[in-house]
Amino acid sequence: MKKLFKKIAISLIIIVALYGVGRIGVVAYDSYKFIEREPYMVMQTQNSITIKWQTPKEEIGTIHYSPLSGNLEQNISDNKGTKKHALTISGLHECAKYKYSVDSSSLKIDNEGRSFTTLCENEKTQRVWVIGDSGERGKGQNGVYNQMLNYIDHDLHKLNFWILLGDNAYRSGTQKQFNQNLFEPYKELVKRFVPWAVTGNHDARRWAFYDIWDFPKNGESGGVASGHDEYYAINDGNLHIVMLDNQNINLNKDGDMANWLKKDLQVNTKPWTLVVFHTPPYSDGGHKSDNSSDSGARMENMRENFVPIFDEFGVDLVLSGHSHGYERSKLMVNHLGKSSTFDITKNLVQNHDSCYTKPLKMTPNSGTIYMVAGSSSKLDHATLQHPAMPFSFEKLGSVILEVTPTTLNSKFLTIDGTIADEFTIKKNNTKCENKTNG
Ligand SMILES: [Fe+2]
Repeated sequence: MKKLFKKIAISLIIIVALYGVGRIGVVAYDSYKFIEREPYMVMQTQNSITIKWQTPKEEIGTIHYSPLSGNLEQNISDNKGTKKHALTISGLHECAKYKYSVDSSSLKIDNEGRSFTTLCENEKTQRVWVIGDSGERGKGQNGVYNQMLNYIDHDLHKLNFWILLGDNAYRSGTQKQFNQNLFEPYKELVKRFVPWAVTGNHDARRWAFYDIWDFPKNGESGGVASGHDEYYAINDGNLHIVMLDNQNINLNKDGDMANWLKKDLQVNTKPWTLVVFHTPPYSDGGHKSDNSSDSGARMENMRENFVPIFDEFGVDLVLSGHSHGYERSKLMVNHLGKSSTFDITKNLVQNHDSCYTKPLKMTPNSGTIYMVAGSSSKLDHATLQHPAMPFSFEKLGSVILEVTPTTLNSKFLTIDGTIADEFTIKKNNTKCENKTNG
């Protein structure tokens, strides 16, 4: 009998070990499987941009580019034949728009309408499109995308910046799924904008995300150099945008990411500061921030360890996804506990619905607005009753931010084309005229 148990135990161990090895093999294959990919852009700075693409055959690729008014008279080429192309165009003018086309002998490339813009020192107005959990192609994704296009009269020159809040390619962030769920459906955006994306839990199931993207870890796009692809900052016009990976990185309050964030925010002088990461500190959507065992306690960790930093520097807006709905707070501070500890008298800086005022300079405890916008391709059925997030909708949609040096306006644009939620933060010393709650 004893022998039989021993045999069964050994057999089980062998099966588990084989499964483990097989699983690692599948993950590695999905992560690094070579597939064709048309040109896309990363590493946008004030004077350079990197264009990457993948061709079925090894070849020397060439990019032709010029200012918009030019005739593509400048060229840059690979030094040697490759399938994985990554060319950096440098020496560009700040805040300038260029057009480009890419030559390939083995990949059919659609060069119609390709352009890019370098980052700006100053800008009068900026329009940012924010999508979250957008990585499931189909009707929902298309409908949300089309409403954004309708909003800008199908004129992509009216858009300045594109932010993706994670879970950019369901189901598991494989190379193939990134093509099917991001690069192909958003093709016209990909030709013209850097997809500034944070990683989500589904993206993190494979290792493709950090293979596809290169990030400005040396401070190339602004802010303090982090030395890590997983967290970095971007300065563009009025915006200081901080991108954090809260999936793969230690979320301790004295961890490297938290320490870098403090250093970065300390020297930030831009009028508006956005912080972007996938797993939110507050949600009563498909994921519950009150549940410590939901999402490996990452929601609790963000709340306890990062919200104090957002408070200390008066971060204006925190953008997350993960729950597939829309949830939005008022201007708030110091809410580190579960939803039962939320106290309107202590946690709200301004108990307004749609207009808030803040000092022009980053000021401690001047309040932050938290937003979950994870319904850009799929929807959860959920209670949406978190007391800190009173503006909540079970609705597919995306977010449009319109920013000037002294105002930030945010709209939740639904798949029906309606604006379900809208608010403005003012830093121009004008008062708000709120219709409700003072
Ligand atoms: Fe998701």
